[in-house]
Amino acid sequence: MSKVLEKDGEATHAAVREHYARSAREAAELSAGSGCGCGTASAGNACCGAGDITGEANLAQGDAAPVLASWGCGSPTAIAALRPGQVVLDLGSGGGYDAFLAARAVAPAKGAAGRVIGVDMTPEMLELARANAQRLGLDQHVEFRQGYIEALPVEAQSVDVILSNCVINLAPDKAAVFREAFRVLRPGGWLSLSDIVSDRPLPQAQRRDLASWAGCVSGAQTEAEYLGAIRAAGFTPVEVTSREAWHREGEVQLFSLTLRAFKPG
Ligand SMILES: C[S@@+](CC[C@H](N)C(=O)[O-])C[C@H]1O[C@@H](n2cnc3c(N)ncnc32)[C@H](O)[C@@H]1O
Repeated sequence: MSKVLEKDGEATHAAVREHYARSAREAAELSAGSGCGCGTASAGNACCGAGDITGEANLAQGDAAPVLASWGCGSPTAIAALRPGQVVLDLGSGGGYDAFLAARAVAPAKGAAGRVIGVDMTPEMLELARANAQRLGLDQHVEFRQGYIEALPVEAQSVDVILSNCVINLAPDKAAVFREAFRVLRPGGWLSLSDIVSDRPLPQAQRRDLASWAGCVSGAQTEAEYLGAIRAAGFTPVEVTSREAWHREGEVQLFSLTLRAFKPG
């Protein structure tokens, strides 16, 4: 990365971290699936989030109910075809929503071999996710690490499946994220993700708006650029499983895209 880009990258990371630190604090204070993730004032009500994991996965039990907010924009876990015993990595794990769904699938019984690693750069999200894992009794199988998805704190070729839900659009260097995902996957492994993309480039002035970036708008690439970056990292084939209209920003239509991409075996 050039010096100018590095500086822009740091400013973007800081703005995104501040936004999601606030979301995590709000969710913890409200003790409910709340706090807006993707979505800004300019994006109106367009807020990915506040999903209810309790009904979906029957995870929450008893008085120590966890704060299971989802700030995602799709269901990458539903198409991940997870199997018991696998090692799963969740990029931008937030409060742990998808990581916990994955843990139930790869480690259906206590002591089973499957495990999940969540990586997130926001300390408040990590704190929320770790507290949730304890309350759910999943802390033996799920671990949350602090780090950037552009420089993963994960060993090469150590992961079977990577999940990510509404995160990569927030990264200043998306090509680096896909290169890192390819590095840590085992041959034959796959990436299963949901993310925001657009049908045409956003205006340059908007791309510099960090509040809009943190709300999952300004950082969105066109679908063609996004899929091109995944293929350039070495993934093939890349299979789009759904594309849903999410929000309109002037002339530009934004979509929530869900896909699987494979590392050749
Ligand atoms: C929209 S939230 C999605 C959280 C979670 N995946 C979910 O579905 O609830 C985005 C999350 O990604 C994290 N994040 C954003 N950019 C990141 C980066 N470059 N490296 C690591 N984490 C990042 C944020 O801290 C936040 O927790």
